[in-house]
Amino acid sequence: MLRTPIVIVNFKTYPEATGEGAVKLARLIFEAGEDYGVAVAVAPQAVDIYRVSSRVKVPVLAQHVDPIRPGRNTGWITPEAIKAAGAVGTLVNHAEHKIPLDQVAAVVERAREVGLSTVACAADIEESRKIAGLGPEMIAVEPPELIGTGVSVSTAKPEEVLRSLRAVKDINTGIKVLCGAGITTGEDVVRALELGAEGVLLASGVVCAKEQKAVIQDILRGMRGR
Ligand code: G3P
Repeated sequence: MLRTPIVIVNFKTYPEATGEGAVKLARLIFEAGEDYGVAVAVAPQAVDIYRVSSRVKVPVLAQHVDPIRPGRNTGWITPEAIKAAGAVGTLVNHAEHKIPLDQVAAVVERAREVGLSTVACAADIEESRKIAGLGPEMIAVEPPELIGTGVSVSTAKPEEVLRSLRAVKDINTGIKVLCGAGITTGEDVVRALELGAEGVLLASGVVCAKEQKAVIQDILRGMRGR
């Protein structure tokens, strides 16, 4: 179970957060989380899960897993394999790796069987509602059009965050709701918390920053309430 409020940094396939860069950034995020007393997690590419989890104490999430069982499959990734690699959970249905709703259900089920946390991504209120019915541990509301823009969802679409959060809680109060897309500053995080979000999911603001440490510290100060 991931602690909240939480900052999850998605490394995507950014070169800055690949290979040794993934280890370096994961360590920087872990240390900042320790310094500020804020829960953090990282989502490196699958090939870097073991590299990061074996060298940094930070909670590691996969960016995607396939809802299959171990056995005769080629080129897929089982929940068992990412758990063995040291992951504690997985993103599901990210806007850049969308899957049909029945597959989201299957991933949530398989992850639960294996003991992995699930952070399911939803593009809008409607999708938040549908995914809430599948019982993931967390839902990250992420309007795709804001991803990578630096225009924060918590300022550009506060209504969407608020209504998505309420829609999820109406279905299952146990699901933690995060928001993501365009979050790059501590102020964006403060806004997200004011809307009721229990954490943020972000990527380029930290991963692509010239001063990654300064940005993650600003984000964590926002999460801690300054
Ligand atoms: O998974 C989070 C990501 O999609 C948000 O991207 O670059 O807007 O923080 P970014």
